Amino acid sequence: MQHFGSMSEQETEHRKRRIADAVIIAVIVAGGLSIGGVLPAWFGRAVWLLLAAGCWLWLALRAWHRLTMRQRGWLVFWSYAAAGCAAAWVLHTAPEQATLWVRFDRICSAILLAGLITAIAYNIIYKNKPNMRKKIVAGNWKMNTLPAEGVELAKGVVAGRGEVCSCVNFIVCPPFTHLSMVAEALKGSDIALGAQNCAAEAKGAYTGEVAASMLAALGCKYVILGHSERRQYYGETSATLNKKMEQAYANNLTPIYCVGENLEEREAGKHFDVVKAQIEEVVYNLTEEQFKNLVIAYEPVWAIGTGKTATAEQAQEIHAYIRKVLAEKFGAAAAECPILYGGSCKPANAAEIFAKEDVDGGLIGGAALKAADFLAIGKGFAK
Ligand code: 13P
Repeated sequence: MQHFGSMSEQETEHRKRRIADAVIIAVIVAGGLSIGGVLPAWFGRAVWLLLAAGCWLWLALRAWHRLTMRQRGWLVFWSYAAAGCAAAWVLHTAPEQATLWVRFDRICSAILLAGLITAIAYNIIYKNKPNMRKKIVAGNWKMNTLPAEGVELAKGVVAGRGEVCSCVNFIVCPPFTHLSMVAEALKGSDIALGAQNCAAEAKGAYTGEVAASMLAALGCKYVILGHSERRQYYGETSATLNKKMEQAYANNLTPIYCVGENLEEREAGKHFDVVKAQIEEVVYNLTEEQFKNLVIAYEPVWAIGTGKTATAEQAQEIHAYIRKVLAEKFGAAAAECPILYGGSCKPANAAEIFAKEDVDGGLIGGAALKAADFLAIGKGFAK
């Protein structure tokens, strides 16, 4: 068995936290030494203020990142609010006739107190949660449902969404014909709309094709590209997919780029080489900026619609490998790229697969056609 871990990213993450902790301790020590008269007051004050400001900036950036990743960002927000209240209280208790220096010291104490509260809250909230990637559950409806049925399905997902952790990003990808109606049904919810394919060209005489700009105009945020069914039945090659990716990015759509081997390739032990080639031939052509806006879906062809699922260990093994291949080109940014598992994923097996370190959610086919099952898969992420 091969081992490809993302330990180095985790270690970097832990190191960053340790640096932040050290900064906070330095703030306390500098403040204490200047209060105790060991350091000249001006020096203590300057260090104190600088470090406290730096610590706050760092915390604010982290909180913003968490908010955009929707990973308990509101908890961080409230810890900031609590810290702000504590700071306000310290300032409020300053005597009326306080000198400028006394007020200055109060402000420093307030910043320190607020920073400490936030840092403690932050560490409690995110203890043992180094993975900052987006959690995604995307439904690929394929060529199923009539438009009215699709609308009912979307409404069902919207209705039950509140029961699932808000940290999960839901996406539904109906057929082209349903997009505008489903967009309407999703209005006011946080469920994103995606398409299952897009044209390789921007516009023109391409009968039967649908341009990425048209999808964006209907409210799509995502587009599935390179699904094995399109590679297999419609002869999609890496050359075509490169053009489709360009179209997606040109229209602000996030591609959900699918990779995966067939049964023969798996049995011949070629699965690593197959996904590597699928990534190298397409993803490696992206700019760093584009790569930051990419979702990968690993879908072993032998598991799609067959009821056969990859084991959680198999999924983790190849997801970690995919991340390693991504890191070879994009470095640390690979740690941020969501990699979804697809292939007979259902409520009964989602939690076990999603618990794996490098699995960031699922691209769901059959089980996405029932709102209850789709939502139950979302519950596979521990709150
Ligand atoms: P199933 O979940 O039906 O196996 O389909 C997976 C898939 O192909 C999603 O794109």
